[in-house]
This record gives sequence, structure tokens and C-alpha cells, in this order.
Amino acid sequence: MTAATVPKYSYPAILKDAARVSWQVEDLIGPHRPLDFARPFLPEALVQAQIPGLSARESLALNHIRSHSYLHLFGLVEEFILPLVVDHAKTLGCDDIAATQAYLGFAAEESKHIRLFRQFATAFEAGFGHRCEGIGPPQAIADFVLSHSPLGVALVTLHIEWMTQRHFLESVRGQQDDLDPQFCRLLKHHWQEEAQHARLDALMVESMAQSLGSDAIAAAVDDYLAIIRYLDQGLKAQVQLDITSLERAIRRKFSITERDEIQRIQERSYQNAFLIAGMTHPSFKQSVQALSAAGYDQIAALGHDFLSDDNSLCSELTTQ
Ligand SMILES: [Fe+2]
Ligand SMILES: [Fe+2]
Repeated sequence: MTAATVPKYSYPAILKDAARVSWQVEDLIGPHRPLDFARPFLPEALVQAQIPGLSARESLALNHIRSHSYLHLFGLVEEFILPLVVDHAKTLGCDDIAATQAYLGFAAEESKHIRLFRQFATAFEAGFGHRCEGIGPPQAIADFVLSHSPLGVALVTLHIEWMTQRHFLESVRGQQDDLDPQFCRLLKHHWQEEAQHARLDALMVESMAQSLGSDAIAAAVDDYLAIIRYLDQGLKAQVQLDITSLERAIRRKFSITERDEIQRIQERSYQNAFLIAGMTHPSFKQSVQALSAAGYDQIAALGHDFLSDDNSLCSELTTQ
């Protein structure tokens, strides 16, 4: 490893912060906490549902469909994050007991999050009134991801956890008055626990890389890139499912031109929300550059490919 420029997170400090956050799934969702379908569930910045040609009612339906896929996609990625963290905790033993406790708490929270997203999805399906589909099956996606090196999967996890911080801090906070209060509660409570996870991921990446040579680190970056390309294809498949769900919900078939335009805007929106938001996060970039500056250059190059016609976001991918 090169000299670390990553902040020195400490397990006792993370445990202290984790202890301050305490909630149960039942506090956030249940029969007495219905979702308000008269309001958007996610901020426009995250879903880009206000597309020319869609009425206000149709844009709201697309916002809800994107919120359903948000639940589905987070549930899905947590199905590979959970075994990664459990396996990492197993390697630690009891020497640094604060570290072991922190990762076991992380795993317990991720299983709680899977249950949270599933219960919100059930409430969504009961209230939306139209079938929405998600890519999968989740186990097949988790199996593909977990077939790569642990460090490659840990880098993807680091990307996802910092991306989640960005979603809340840059898009949701400050918008709560306009959004469904239950969905806001989900986003806020998830963000509160992910703040600890992101720091633990940074420590996990650092600790995994310590015993690896430069070839193994380069291979892990290649694994990260392969998983990100795979997820990009999954997100594009999700856009097709979303458009079909939208046609079903608004009882209107799009022309080829309308469908192409919605597909173009939504593919870009998913890439920005789920891929670029993680790849360009300063803390993710710092962690990767501490392992390999050339590795981050490769990640930046993939980001440029995703955003080849969006110069403002491309500038965030420079390595300096
Ligand atoms: Fe989570
Ligand atoms: Fe997490």
C-alpha cells in the first residue's frame, strides 16, 4: 500500500456512534403507517421523473416506480454486503474485540435493512395497485458479485455506502416537506446507520489490502470494474421493467419516440444515482487512491465512458 491518505477511523469511535442510533423496523413501517401516494417518495434529483411528455400524474407514478426499484435494489445489494461482512468478521477473531463487535453490528444492521426494504416493498405493493418488477433474482446477482475477490467486493460495498450518504445529504435532506413522510423516515434512518458502515468499509478495504501485493490489488480493482459494468447492465434492464410498469400504471402505451426518450433519461438517472455518485465520492476516491493511483485512473476512465456527454460530472472524476 502507498502512504494512507484515508482518515484514521477508529473502531471504538464507530461503536460509540452506532450506539447512539437505535431503531427497529416496526418503528418505521406497519399497518398504522401507510404510504402517502399523493406525494413523491424520492427527490426529483435522484429519479428524474419529470420528463417532457409525461403529465404531473404520470411523473408521480414514475417517481413511485423508481422508489419501488430503490427498495428492490438496496435490498438486493445488501444480500451480498451481508455475507462479505460476516466473512470479514470471521477472519478477525477476538484480538481486536472492538473491530469484531463493530463488524458484527454492521452485519446485524444490514439484515435489519433487508427486512426494512422488504416491508416497505410490501406496503408499496398494497398501496400502488399495479405490479412493479425488479431485476433478479437477488441470489443470482449476489452469487455473481461474490464470485469475485473479497477486496473487489469490498470496494463495491465502499462505493455503495458512500453513495448512500450522498443520496441523503445532497438530495433528500432539505426536501423532506415535499416527500412522503414514511419514505423520508426510511431514508433518514438508513443513512444514520450507513454512516458507520461507510467508515467500517474504509477500514475493511485497508485491512484486506495490507496483506496483498500490487498484483492482487490491481486484480481487485479489475473485479470492482467488472462488477460495476455488470450492475450498469442490471440498471439498464431495470429501466425497461420500469417503463413497462409505468405503462401499466398509467394505462397508456408509449410511442417508440416517447419510450426512447424516457429510456435515455432514466438510464442516465440510474447511472448518476447508483454508479457516478459512488465512483466520484471523495472518500471512495481517497480509499482507492491510497491502494493504487493507477487503479483510480481506471475507475475514472469507466466513469468518463458512462458520462461521455456530461462534462460537468466528468470533472469530478479527475484524479487530482
Ligand atoms: Fe444498509
Ligand atoms: Fe450498509
